[in-house]
Amino acid sequence: MAGADRGLPQGSNIMGSGTMSMDLYDAMSTLRAVRRLRPDPLPEDVLERILKAATWAPSGGNVQPWRVLVVRDPALRKGLGDLYRPEWARYSGGARSALERMEGEARDKQARMLAAADYLGEHLGEAPVTLVFCFNPVHMAITDSGLGRPSVVGGGSVYPAVQNAMLACRAEGVGCTLTTLLCYREAEVKALLDIPPDWYTCAFMPMGYPVLGGHGPITRRPVSRLAFADRWGTPFSGAAGTADAG
Ligand SMILES: Cc1cc2nc3c(=O)[nH]c(=O)nc-3n(C[C@H](O)[C@H](O)[C@H](O)COP(=O)(O)O)c2cc1C
Repeated sequence: MAGADRGLPQGSNIMGSGTMSMDLYDAMSTLRAVRRLRPDPLPEDVLERILKAATWAPSGGNVQPWRVLVVRDPALRKGLGDLYRPEWARYSGGARSALERMEGEARDKQARMLAAADYLGEHLGEAPVTLVFCFNPVHMAITDSGLGRPSVVGGGSVYPAVQNAMLACRAEGVGCTLTTLLCYREAEVKALLDIPPDWYTCAFMPMGYPVLGGHGPITRRPVSRLAFADRWGTPFSGAAGTADAG
């Protein structure tokens, strides 16, 4: 996108030279989990652009109650990998049982996903970088915290930053996956990375250049299954039924 289209002077490039850019819809529709990552280091300028994109995300009151640790130290990466491995092994048992009950293309897809996730389970510590997103609830207006059901609003001030980082990875040709299993091991992660007592973890993003094809088509439910017109239950169909196009 040209600088002028973003309200910037003609020819200006907010990210500096070397920026990768791509159509936003193409980026969103091919941003799949890339779990097989090469150990090659990521260039500093690429990392900086990805982190800058994260900072552009909205947050409640624009407080940005998140911080991100850019974990590159081999010993710390190994530490994260060692914590992740058993958590994935535990979690994947359920996913594997679900696979038994599936058939056809859905089963094939799930099996491919499990194989890739097994790979990440073994190799997370070898990803050249893992972003560890932390949050501080004191700085958040968590408007659903007293409703007697699981609270999610606080995450809304962090996960947009995670998604921006993932979209920037997509534009840079860097593979990544949002993972959360390490939250089960938060106490150990906090000790490993010197995270202060009042900060907590909410997303771990191993990233690196893809071993295989990397990004590509994704499978998602159609708009008509996820969006309702005005009231719950009436599928939103969009102009001339185009909502499900693509
Ligand atoms: C909140 C959240 C937590 C996730 N946690 C993990 C995880 O711990 N390990 C993992 O391999 N993938 C994890 N994922 C990735 C999802 O499995 C993946 O986004 C989903 O299967 C869709 O895959 P696709 O984008 O390749 O189509 C997580 C994704 C989200 C949004």
